[in-house]
Amino acid sequence: IKRIGVLTSGGDAPGMNACIRSVVLTAAAKEIEVVGFSHGFNGLIDGEHRTLLPYHVQHIIQLGGTILKSARCPALHTEDGARTAAGTLHQLQLDALLVIGGDGSFRGAMAIAPFYKGQLIGLPGTIDNDVDGTDATIGYATAIDTALDAIDKIRDTADAFERIFLVELMGRHSGFIALSAGIACGAEQIICPELGLLKKGQLDSVIRPIQHAQLIKGKSSYIIVMAEHCYPGGSTALAADLSEAIGIECRACVLGHIQRGGSPVGADRILATKLGAYAVEQLMQGAHLMMAGEVNHQAGLFPLELTGEGKKNIDPYLLNWQQQVAND
Ligand code: F6P
Repeated sequence: IKRIGVLTSGGDAPGMNACIRSVVLTAAAKEIEVVGFSHGFNGLIDGEHRTLLPYHVQHIIQLGGTILKSARCPALHTEDGARTAAGTLHQLQLDALLVIGGDGSFRGAMAIAPFYKGQLIGLPGTIDNDVDGTDATIGYATAIDTALDAIDKIRDTADAFERIFLVELMGRHSGFIALSAGIACGAEQIICPELGLLKKGQLDSVIRPIQHAQLIKGKSSYIIVMAEHCYPGGSTALAADLSEAIGIECRACVLGHIQRGGSPVGADRILATKLGAYAVEQLMQGAHLMMAGEVNHQAGLFPLELTGEGKKNIDPYLLNWQQQVAND
């Protein structure tokens, strides 16, 4: 292996820069050149790239976002797009491509595979944590802390006004962030897709614990942490429907893209560094169409095509505790 490419794709995640840095430093130590592509796979199609040397990645370990920029790339899923992308890799004489992103980005890598002679490796970078083959994704730990910081502040004002708040968190179609942040902020209620999506006006399961809390526990504030896409119209619609149903004003707060930004927490920097280094080493061993992940603190490879199967579950123990103890 003499030259490799690297790109960041899909929703950016804190720790992507730490991962790029680790790839570049590890590769340099092994006398491998690194070419960075900009704007995800678009950089492959448009030929937007630059050589990355160790000094380019100095002091980026603490930066959120990605120095390579990120994007989604629908063109890659056409044969023309995939051929063009593979053509760029051949033209630049790259022996391998490292893709930092989520399972959608890994599908992008697999779309190139039939036309590319080199090796393809994925690195799990997404706040959503919805990637099989790794206990945590790069960015997930930071997103939880960012959400917590915001929810703790919402708690102050909710308490002062004795209000019900709905805080909507990201997660695409999974409840990893909602459950973790919900548990850690002491949310009275958590709504996530794993408990079933709510239909418009289907409020019984939400109202019952609120009434219980009011009558029995005398709560001065009530926070419902909900994952996005769980109710038609999201938390704003649910807050309005709840207000009408129970006659108490409910407020909604959509945290949105705040969760994607910020300096990565230590756990994300460490995971990104470990997996970036491991991915380069595994490339040298001939790994192809695999993702570098970490399970039980052990770095390992996982087939790229299985990363989106959705077999990784949110913690059933904590979910059950929330339902049985905190919600009631
Ligand atoms: O996959 C990361 C993520 O932030 C999801 O949590 C969210 O559903 C989606 O990306 C938002 O995408 P966009 O930035 O395109 O609005």
